[in-house]
Amino acid sequence: MKKDIPEISLQRLPVYLNYLRSLSGDDGKYISSGAIAAALGMGEVLVRKDLAYTSGVGRPKVGYVREELIAALEDYLGCNIKKQAVLVGAGELGRALLAYGGFEKYGISIACAFDSDPEKAGSIVAGKPVRPVSELPGLAEEGIKLAIVAVPASAAQSVCMELARDGVKAILNFAPVRLKAPDGVVIRDIDVAANLAVLSNML
Ligand code: NAI
Repeated sequence: MKKDIPEISLQRLPVYLNYLRSLSGDDGKYISSGAIAAALGMGEVLVRKDLAYTSGVGRPKVGYVREELIAALEDYLGCNIKKQAVLVGAGELGRALLAYGGFEKYGISIACAFDSDPEKAGSIVAGKPVRPVSELPGLAEEGIKLAIVAVPASAAQSVCMELARDGVKAILNFAPVRLKAPDGVVIRDIDVAANLAVLSNML
């Protein structure tokens, strides 16, 4: 992880990148922090501060050269460095994630999945092999440091510990359980249901 940027700013960088990528050539060569802020419903000062971490520097009056800013964001986020991830749990959610092409935009590809179900292990999902969990210890040799966990909550902690033993350093966890991160491992939880519950509370 980048050490010199607050995590909250880091989380916003892909939002800027997605927006800038969505613009077309007709939208002009330059874009100002004010235009980005207005499009994304954010404060202009915040946008300028966030973008400054990427060494994206605007020019007085005209703003940023859009292509340069995209390149600075891609560089900062490591989109040009190809990284492989693995997925553990090739069930309903896992299969949808294997078929999702959006990770590539950030330089990440899911190399394969692992599943404890012997009927799933050995299959191919969206062109990716599903391997038996007995092959997880081989990950260290493959140098894969990023994993997605999509197993039932009851299995998630032990899977997380196994991944840590296999050299994984960062885990995106979809199981609805707060995992205890082993030393040196970063965990991020994704919980659509909890987010929906928060949203429904705002109605
Ligand atoms: P599923 O039951 O279809 O798939 C789970 C898969 O994990 C199965 O293929 C099973 O064989 C495998 N598995 C079980 N124990 C394992 C182990 N120790 N090692 C390797 N593989 C193992 O379940 P589904 O619907 O795909 O959900 C997966 C997880 O994601 C669940 O924890 C569910 O609660 C969670 N989930 C989270 C969402 C979110 O927004 N965060 C949305 C949907 C599901």
